[in-house]
Amino acid sequence: MEITALADMNLSVTENVFLCILGPSGCGKSTFLRIVAGLERASSGRVFYDGQEHMKPRREIGMVFQSYSLMPWLNVLDNIALGLDFAGVSKAKRIAIAREYLGMISMSDFGKALPCELSGGMQQRVAIARALANNPDVLLMDEPFGALDAYTRIIMQKELLRIWEQHKVTILFVTHSVDEAVYLADRIILMSSSPGKIIRDITVTMPRGRERSNPRFGELTEELLTLLEDA
Ligand SMILES: Nc1ncnc2c1ncn2[C@@H]1O[C@H](COP(=O)(O)OP(=O)(O)OP(=O)(O)O)[C@@H](O)[C@H]1O
Ligand SMILES: [Mg+2]
Repeated sequence: MEITALADMNLSVTENVFLCILGPSGCGKSTFLRIVAGLERASSGRVFYDGQEHMKPRREIGMVFQSYSLMPWLNVLDNIALGLDFAGVSKAKRIAIAREYLGMISMSDFGKALPCELSGGMQQRVAIARALANNPDVLLMDEPFGALDAYTRIIMQKELLRIWEQHKVTILFVTHSVDEAVYLADRIILMSSSPGKIIRDITVTMPRGRERSNPRFGELTEELLTLLEDA
């Protein structure tokens, strides 16, 4: 069976934006992210990065997957330093950088721990630290908090916003959760399926430090839910 996963995906993203991609299951969100990451080739169409056509994975574009994808045999510090190892950074420098990011995710005491000794939320923080340790300009995140419980998820959203503000990185964040998109995004892309395409491009003007109790939060959430139902 042949499926057209995506059609007419035209998207241009400016620097330092927090963009959320929202859409029903199977509409091609992961496929789109993998194409942008250079992990998958589109059968037609082109991707440009900083004015240049780009097709292969590159260090400037980091990816965080839904599953934590840590190396189970490496401790936390070595997991964070993994990309730097591939990039040929010296061992002393790798560890110094990894320690810095470990502090940033508030896990300084866990450098020697193995992934199996960590909770899901902690593993995902390590995966984010690993992506950031490579100093990417763009971070692609495919439902990174999908497997977390509701409480940890809210903590992680806050934490991610703090990191994003500190690092000035451009984030493309795929989520199923309307609430998550409204909390995080400067801009929300809404997709529909068969084939996957963009049906809405919404700029979120609500100021940062967003409260879910704010009536505007509720209104935008309602509006997006209705659009998603139609999608
Ligand atoms: N490796 C593959 N081989 C064949 N078809 C695939 C493959 N991966 C995805 N597809 C198809 O491409 C379409 C888009 O899948 P994709 O995983 O991108 O959706 P998604 O929006 O990320 O869904 P979800 O929200 O469930 O993660 C689906 O119809 C799926 O069946
Ligand atoms: Mg997916």
